[in-house]
Amino acid sequence: MPTIKDEISKRRTFAIISHPDAGKTTLTEKFLLFGGAIQTAGAVKNNKITKTATSDFMEIERQRGISVATSVMAFNYKNILINLLDTPGHRDFAEDTYRTLTAVDSVILVIDCVKGVEAQTERLMEVCRMRNTPVIVFVNKMDLEGQDPFDLLDELEEKLGIHVRPLSWPISGGATFKGVYNLYDHNVRLFQADKTKMAKEVFAIKDLADESLDTLVGEHADQLREDIELIDGVYDEWDPQPYLDADVAPVFFGSAVNNFGIQEMLDTFIKIAPDPSPIETSTRIVHPEEESLTGFIFKIHANIDPKHRDRIAFMRICSGKFQRNTFYKHTRLGKRLKFSNPVTFLAKDKSLVEEAWPGDVVGLYDTGNFKIGDTLTEGEDLQFRGIPSFSPEIFKELVNKDPMKSKQLEKGIKQLTDEGVAQLFIREAGKRKIVGTVGELQFEVIQYRLEHEYGAKCEFQPKPYHKACWLVSDNEERLGEFRRIKSNDIVRDKDDNEVYLAPSPFLLQMEMNNFPEITFHVTSEFKTEQV
Ligand code: G4P
Repeated sequence: MPTIKDEISKRRTFAIISHPDAGKTTLTEKFLLFGGAIQTAGAVKNNKITKTATSDFMEIERQRGISVATSVMAFNYKNILINLLDTPGHRDFAEDTYRTLTAVDSVILVIDCVKGVEAQTERLMEVCRMRNTPVIVFVNKMDLEGQDPFDLLDELEEKLGIHVRPLSWPISGGATFKGVYNLYDHNVRLFQADKTKMAKEVFAIKDLADESLDTLVGEHADQLREDIELIDGVYDEWDPQPYLDADVAPVFFGSAVNNFGIQEMLDTFIKIAPDPSPIETSTRIVHPEEESLTGFIFKIHANIDPKHRDRIAFMRICSGKFQRNTFYKHTRLGKRLKFSNPVTFLAKDKSLVEEAWPGDVVGLYDTGNFKIGDTLTEGEDLQFRGIPSFSPEIFKELVNKDPMKSKQLEKGIKQLTDEGVAQLFIREAGKRKIVGTVGELQFEVIQYRLEHEYGAKCEFQPKPYHKACWLVSDNEERLGEFRRIKSNDIVRDKDDNEVYLAPSPFLLQMEMNNFPEITFHVTSEFKTEQV
């Protein structure tokens, strides 16, 4: 019988993150092909929410439906059970990605070698840094004329605030891309543009000075020798510990669409990536090998079938063993719940699960008990923390268009914001509801879903706010004063925290100068949620 320790040590739970179009979907698909979870390319492609979807609600719904199936993709690779958590590529769903990052033990960051570090990449890395998540970088599209690899490495260090250490190195690039040199295993893999098979030709290079290198890569041999000398001079020797401490990110180069450079990375990944890690809660650190089950909900997905209002809540198991038909405690509600149809996901197939282990994700059918961040235990009162809310970028007031349906609207907007579709702020005066999102698309999704799932009609009125700032101060008197002066712009978030909606950067700066006793936080992560 395998022990819990055996189960933990064979699991790797991670996410692939990237700026849209860098190659996340392609890389995901190649991983699944290597893992034997899918047989043909193209199976994951549909998961993308396309950029033109803004006005096509059915399309959004269809695509959201597909992404339920691909929310977690479990596959085996060389006796390691890999749980790959999907993150939506669309910028407007960035908050979904941030939440998913709370449920993984490491990430692979994909960079397009032509475009380098893009805006979305920086933001995602910020989240990884906040949580000390180990990162591996994959520089993709080496078959295109990209930036100089040394410049790219400098850019990664500068913009992402992390040290890097190449573990593979490109031999030329673009039209003359020859292949990669593996600095870890000391061999050369020659590039073949092939979308269906992976390049098999690997040549061991004991000594870079050896003439066999010239035979292999011709005129590019000297450049490679120079590059490797420079790398050895500039970068510290490879050591997995700083990677696990999230101080250093190993970097691989390749071409996802051509199946190239991926195997080097995947082989290294299973060797160095952390197995399920201890996780902080409101009261203590939970270790995965503890006997008792704990887990938290990081994602909630509405059922795409409008006839059934139930939803799937995705729980990351943090410790112990999860079992079907067993009572667990929902610590926020103090309620005991059991699940008769928990599911896991293997590529596109959902299947009933009898038991699951730390690092695994189970889908729990939910009729409205869960919101993001909820915790299940075997009885202990603890709450996993650190599901960050970031300041939204667009704010609109929710206006009810059908007074007969105000109850439905109330319930709908609450459930949708519990799912994390958007953030809801309530202004005390008049109980007005301000909805905050990172993209316009969510407003359309909310309006559509309120109507189709809850039978409520609404309209959104734009509000000229710039940022949401969570307020904290020891000085009750000054806080009270601020509250009085700014009562029109002060709201409460879903956890009843006090938030100031700043109309402009200028006004925010002015208030910060006028009220130095108050701290204005742009994320809600600073505080520990108490049970
Ligand atoms: P995303 O999930 O990060 O948004 O990116 P995705 O994998 O969909 O890749 C975006 C585009 O980049 C796709 O082209 C894909 O084929 C291409 N791509 C991925 N890897 C490589 C690579 O190594 N080299 C080159 N040259 N291109 C690559 P598309 O035209 O948008 O889609 P498709 O019609 O090719 O599927």
